[in-house]
Amino acid sequence: MTSGGSGAVELQAEDGTIYDSTAGAVVHMHPSCLEPVPNLVMLGDLNEAAILHNLRIRYREDQIYTYIGPILVSCNPYKRMSIYTSELIAQYNSHRGGAFSSGLEPHCYEVAATAYNNVVTEGQNQSMVISGESGAGKTEATKLCVRFLAEVAASKEASGVGKEQLLLESSPIMEAFGNAKTVRNNNSSRFGKYMEVMFGPDTDLIIGGRITKYLLEKSRIVGQNRGERNFHAFYQVFCLPGADRKRLSILKASDFYYLNTTGTITADGVDDLAEFQDVCHAFDALGVTKTELDDAFQLVAACLWLGNIQLASVSDTESRVVNQDAVDQAAELLGVQGDQLAATFTDRLMIMRGQATVKVPMSKAEAEDARDALAKHLYGRLFDWITAAINCAIVTDVRPAALPFRTAQLHCRTSSPALTPLCHRRRAILSDCSTSSGSSASL
Ligand SMILES: Nc1ncnc2c1ncn2[C@@H]1O[C@H](COP(=O)(O)OP(=O)(O)OP(=O)(O)O)[C@@H](O)[C@H]1O
Ligand SMILES: [Mg+2]
Repeated sequence: MTSGGSGAVELQAEDGTIYDSTAGAVVHMHPSCLEPVPNLVMLGDLNEAAILHNLRIRYREDQIYTYIGPILVSCNPYKRMSIYTSELIAQYNSHRGGAFSSGLEPHCYEVAATAYNNVVTEGQNQSMVISGESGAGKTEATKLCVRFLAEVAASKEASGVGKEQLLLESSPIMEAFGNAKTVRNNNSSRFGKYMEVMFGPDTDLIIGGRITKYLLEKSRIVGQNRGERNFHAFYQVFCLPGADRKRLSILKASDFYYLNTTGTITADGVDDLAEFQDVCHAFDALGVTKTELDDAFQLVAACLWLGNIQLASVSDTESRVVNQDAVDQAAELLGVQGDQLAATFTDRLMIMRGQATVKVPMSKAEAEDARDALAKHLYGRLFDWITAAINCAIVTDVRPAALPFRTAQLHCRTSSPALTPLCHRRRAILSDCSTSSGSSASL
């Protein structure tokens, strides 16, 4: 820093760039702030500039994790790093004596190890809250923490696949149906997820888990911003074998209105075919049958066909279907009559004074809203079903009496009818929707 006349100063940055400023605007920094520290509380000055400088110089050295007290700050490296090996998992696990006392580099494995240690030694429930802006790396961090727990607390089941493996398998499925390409993240989670991992009362091992999802971004099903995509499942459906695609009358994604308005059908770094294969494998591991898998993708195809139904104005208050073939395709996939389905968009049934049922025509805008509402509701119910199917597989089967309070709820889930055939469920979906969208109840 060099001073000139009238309080003007010249500042030279690390890279040699010269900045002009004034003496009053320059804040002196404690010398310790210039060296990288693994925990920001070690900085002589704890202010925004010192924090950002420290994070930046660590990031340059590929040290993406830094503590601030017991909280871990993670900077997305946007590249594969060799810091997630089984050896490192074992190393962090062997140091879980006390909170963040390992002396190892800050790492999300250390947070997971500390939480695990508190569960098994103190018997206390633990929460890991992972937050940040879109693309920050929350989903990746969650998977890394689950992977850590899965490795150190594998249930070692005598036969079959352990619950921890099923927990890991749930990710590709939830991501296929709940993630999408956005302008900020090619694999953005468009729903909130709360995942529980459960440990036995007299064992340090995983005995089950449960996923609670909330706030699925259903508006994405019927429209996306430029450069964005619908949920990945809408593109994976085109990876079905040719005979299945023929049965569902789906040839290419660009034929469908819910997919072709944003100019983005493919996404960099998203391999729809490989991910579709992962989804099939994961469903299989979770005990979902091939028929149920086919039904799930049939519902996705039905949503696509709903989106292709065009409506036109007959008058200000009345509308009609333009392309009955799209209605028939959607109706066939949903197992209902085409004319019944068309009527739900063009007319609504109203009960007058609790007695007579009157048919009230809907305008073009109302009819389009009813069509989109049906697609959103169908997909939302499919997502509910998928979450329930995963929970059925990962839920513990240890009796609640032998477990701490948390598992009492689990027992209810085990006996839930989540895996009833999807065709029954599909009917339930339709009748629910026709009530909620205000359309005809005749479905
Ligand atoms: N630890 C990491 N190592 C390597 N790459 C990472 C890491 N964390 C994140 N990434 C990269 O950044 C991308 C975005 O991360 P992620 O999907 O986890 O973000 P997010 O916080 O869940 O975003 P959103 O809120 O949109 O769901 C990942 O697809 C991956 O390519
Ligand atoms: Mg995410």
